[in-house]
Amino acid sequence: MADLRVKKVKDFSAELTVPGDKSISHRALMFSALSNGPCEITGFLPGEDCRATRDALAAMGVQFEELGDGGTAIRVHGCRGEFTAPERAIDCGNSGTTMRLLSGILAGCPFETELTGDASLTRRPMKRVQLPLEKMGARIRGKGDRCLPPLKITGREKLTPIHYESPVASAQVKSAIMLAGLRAEGKTSISEPHPSRDHTERMLNYFLVKNIREGDTVSIWGGQTPESRDIEVPGDISSAAFWIVAAAARDGARLLIDRVGLNPTRIGILGVMIRMGAQLIERVDESGCEPMGSIEVIGGTLKATEIGGEEIPTLIDEIPILSVAAALAEGTTVIKDAKELRVKESDRISAVAENLRRMGVPVEEFADGMEITGVEKLKGAEIHSLGDHRIAMAFAIAGLFAEGETIIRDVDCIETSYPGFIRELEQLQAMGR
Ligand code: S3P
Repeated sequence: MADLRVKKVKDFSAELTVPGDKSISHRALMFSALSNGPCEITGFLPGEDCRATRDALAAMGVQFEELGDGGTAIRVHGCRGEFTAPERAIDCGNSGTTMRLLSGILAGCPFETELTGDASLTRRPMKRVQLPLEKMGARIRGKGDRCLPPLKITGREKLTPIHYESPVASAQVKSAIMLAGLRAEGKTSISEPHPSRDHTERMLNYFLVKNIREGDTVSIWGGQTPESRDIEVPGDISSAAFWIVAAAARDGARLLIDRVGLNPTRIGILGVMIRMGAQLIERVDESGCEPMGSIEVIGGTLKATEIGGEEIPTLIDEIPILSVAAALAEGTTVIKDAKELRVKESDRISAVAENLRRMGVPVEEFADGMEITGVEKLKGAEIHSLGDHRIAMAFAIAGLFAEGETIIRDVDCIETSYPGFIRELEQLQAMGR
């Protein structure tokens, strides 16, 4: 397991792009596979999580062609969702999106499949997809009350449409139900406590599959086949987030990120950074499947804020790096309504609290969040990623602000979402010494 050593930098100025959006890359593969012909995906994220989705679909008989560009361009031969039974268990690796969305697809396939994953994924609850998908007629078996993986899924050619009131605002749950809804006879609808990211709905529209949103409910009609199309994946705002905080928290810093996704259901971090006092300029182009554009950041002194409620799903994956911003801000930042963080790739509330304390930051932990009091100086420390990519990257950024050396243990996990992060960090460190 590799370690990463990070030292404080004096300046920060950069113009960069980030790899493709992880959520959109997964969906681009799945909807292309469900479509009626060839689809070229560009800007695809060649990280381990999305590879798990591609390999899973390949095991179900889907043909892919690599078109070069370091794995970022792929042609998928849509098979109208006429998948074949995989010969062995499908390994979803570290990827919750692969397992949950694929469960929705497999619910409508008339064979039995086993889905498994790594040590982190096999601790994550699948009950949230088991419940609605069983109501639709699939059979899903996992371990214990929380339905932990490995999962055994027995699908059916035709599913029963349902209306489901999801107790959690989860795009993974919503998407699993919508994917199964394509195989249901009639209208399937889902409502959520707050709107989660809407990439599935946008991609369905892009592939000309009828779905509608009425208030907090989305509906889809079964029996539709996505029309094959080429698709461009924007850069991942969740990856850009690390550099946004690195620039925003440093006086005089300037950052320009281009070709990044600016979907309103994903950019909660930008609103938070503005509240904390950062200067941000966005330029958005709405002409593709997803809004994308550039973000310019001018750094300054950050101040504390409160993060909670409806805003949480729009920045759920950015809370580790926002916690680092809070540690660098004046005052006490409160993060609440975020108990979902306890069931991500790690328990991100305790992972953030423990690692920030190691860097000399006072943190109070609650069931659904934490209070973080900013400090004048972070202390370099030994950080444990717990195999969680976003913890590893958030604390690598913290290391850029810390006195002495910060050592991040176990950074191989960064490959799941951001191949190239360490190279980018090393270049910035060399320039900013
Ligand atoms: C994702 C949705 C989010 C997010 C995850 C990716 C998706 O999870 O945390 O990294 O692609 O649908 P939930 O919406 O299930 O909380």
